[in-house]
Amino acid sequence: MSDDLTLLRDETLSALTAATDLKGWDAVRVAALGRNGRLTQLLKGLGGVAPEARKERGAALNRLKAELEAVLEARRGELDAAALDARLANERVDITLPPRPEPRGSIHPISRTMEEIAAIFGAMGFGLAEGPDIEDDWMNFGALNIPAHHPARQDMDTFYMPGERGGRRLVLRTHTSPVQARTMLSEAPPIRKICMGRTYRADHDATHSPMFHQCEGLAIDRAIHLGHLKGCVVDFLRSFFGIASLPVRFRSSYFPFTEPSMEVDIGWNRKTGELGAGGDWLEIMGSGMVHPKVLANCGIDPRDWQGFAFGMGIERIAMLKLGIPDLRPFYDADLRWLGHYGFSPLAPAMLHEGLASGGGAA
Ligand code: PHE
Repeated sequence: MSDDLTLLRDETLSALTAATDLKGWDAVRVAALGRNGRLTQLLKGLGGVAPEARKERGAALNRLKAELEAVLEARRGELDAAALDARLANERVDITLPPRPEPRGSIHPISRTMEEIAAIFGAMGFGLAEGPDIEDDWMNFGALNIPAHHPARQDMDTFYMPGERGGRRLVLRTHTSPVQARTMLSEAPPIRKICMGRTYRADHDATHSPMFHQCEGLAIDRAIHLGHLKGCVVDFLRSFFGIASLPVRFRSSYFPFTEPSMEVDIGWNRKTGELGAGGDWLEIMGSGMVHPKVLANCGIDPRDWQGFAFGMGIERIAMLKLGIPDLRPFYDADLRWLGHYGFSPLAPAMLHEGLASGGGAA
């Protein structure tokens, strides 16, 4: 090989080794074999070579061209592989990396409280019942022994709805007690049911909302007496508030649909808000033995069957348990409030333990 070809070959090979990416590689290719590349120029100049030397020179140029093409091809393969490796390393996803959970939603304290109530009464053998928010006035009042002229109809600041159903006026239910009537009308005793849901009264201040939630309980059986009512309510309250020694007091009262009727108080400290100690009493629910007239209104013979019922405000017991001071933010959908008082969906139940003063566990 003549000197100029040896030089071209050596320079091209070392430039190729120095090229570390496809751009550098292409520059080497163009410099040697491109339209104006050094080897291309030499091939073009072959015509000017003396005829006796032309054949050998032409063969040498073609060999060099073939060699350079092969080397370029091989180097290109190396650079392609390296580029792919670099890209794979760069785009690598470590699938063994655990996710970083950033929980956004939380369980509303009302929902959470309803789950806890259902769990406690469920363990006592109570099932869940439901009824409509829009009731007729017979279910909401009449069946429950609250006749048309009865002051309780005013007491409850009823929202009346336009229209009627079967000749009866429509109301937004003022309590969950109409579900007692619905349950007795649709099921044969014995009955053990609770009902939780929305209730409505035209009342709005720091401790009253026109929409709030109640939990109703109903047990009907052949020999049910006041002792069953007391045991059930005391067990529920101590379990719900997580205070085994929570003082519970039954105070004689009046509801048209129960006889006798009792308001239920729990012991607390009015100054500190601490539950279970302090010598003050806080009213927490209404209860009583189902009035014989209510049983009869709902197709159950009061000579064979007796029962007890109770009703409580869910916001109220949630506020006491969770230390929430104001009722109104329950319905504001304020993310800061929800973040503070809301619950993680996976939070363990806070029952049966001294957690009464705990806040929300988001
Ligand atoms: N319905 C009553 C109320 O809303 C509560 C209650 C229910 C009382 C069942 C006695 C029995 O205040």
